[in-house]
Amino acid sequence: MLRKSATKTRRGSSSSQLLAARDHSGYIMESKYEVSRLEKKTDPQLAWRQLAWAGLRPGMRALEVGCGSGAVTRVMERIVVAGHAIGVDQSADRIKAARTLARKANLGVRFKLGNAYALPVGDGKFDFAWSRFLFEYLRHPERALRELIRVTKPGGIISVADLDGQLEQFYPLDRSLKRDLTEALRLLGATGFDPHLGRKLFTMFQIAGLHNIRVKAAPYQVYAGPMKSADLANWRLKSENSGRLLARLTGDTKRWMSFSERFMRVFERSDLFYHCTMIHVSARSPTRALMSRKLVFAKTADR
Ligand SMILES: C[S@@+](CC[C@H](N)C(=O)[O-])C[C@H]1O[C@@H](n2cnc3c(N)ncnc32)[C@H](O)[C@@H]1O
Repeated sequence: MLRKSATKTRRGSSSSQLLAARDHSGYIMESKYEVSRLEKKTDPQLAWRQLAWAGLRPGMRALEVGCGSGAVTRVMERIVVAGHAIGVDQSADRIKAARTLARKANLGVRFKLGNAYALPVGDGKFDFAWSRFLFEYLRHPERALRELIRVTKPGGIISVADLDGQLEQFYPLDRSLKRDLTEALRLLGATGFDPHLGRKLFTMFQIAGLHNIRVKAAPYQVYAGPMKSADLANWRLKSENSGRLLARLTGDTKRWMSFSERFMRVFERSDLFYHCTMIHVSARSPTRALMSRKLVFAKTADR
């Protein structure tokens, strides 16, 4: 919704545009192509290595929150073997597709429709609760982390992986495109999207009272020169989607559709360098003994 009496903020976007972005509720990558985008971009071997590093083992009951098409949940099911893996996502379309894809792969993995802020599962049900590429889109990631903790057994594993520096580290980038990209990130930021979420995870885990926190940072999406056609298709969808959303939020279709096209041309440059980082944090939820010790300490400290 745009206000008539819009005032320009210091960095360019009008106050009404920022308000419209703040009013936006939902996943900014939403599109009819999202299932196929997620299936194409997921590397099951990388997911396997990440899940193993996080501590997923055979026999565990495991949960993925924001599972999308279920590409990673299917890998989880293969690792837990005789255990159980469950995926939760807020999109009915993606849950339906995830069920079909798992059935085709002959896997008994289950999928539930639900929200990361109020998971449709009981307390302490899982040995392993995991979320990847979700927190960066959430307005309240710390609330989603609290839910992961709630559904994990005392002493169980909680693991979150997300990006840091996404959409930021391009070189070379011409001045007008840089200006538009900064503005785009500012508007998307008001919807809840946080390109710096990765660097915040360790502190978020500490504040949440998790222990044995381990952190791993790895390069993700490193492009030197024109990118491969599969990556290009993924970025095209991301770029067109963001362009459409920004046009809707600002009412300026011409600017943002042109931005989306100019942005895609960056990826065709032979001299382009781009990179971002995947930050992966894994920790244990407090055991009952630790929780009661903390309680005793809290009582002592009160006196
Ligand atoms: C980028 S996909 C991540 C897919 C998968 N986890 C992976 O690693 O590739 C993000 C998914 O999170 C879901 N999502 C976004 N907000 C959510 C919320 N509040 N609760 C549950 N799922 C959410 C979206 O519907 C989307 O399917």
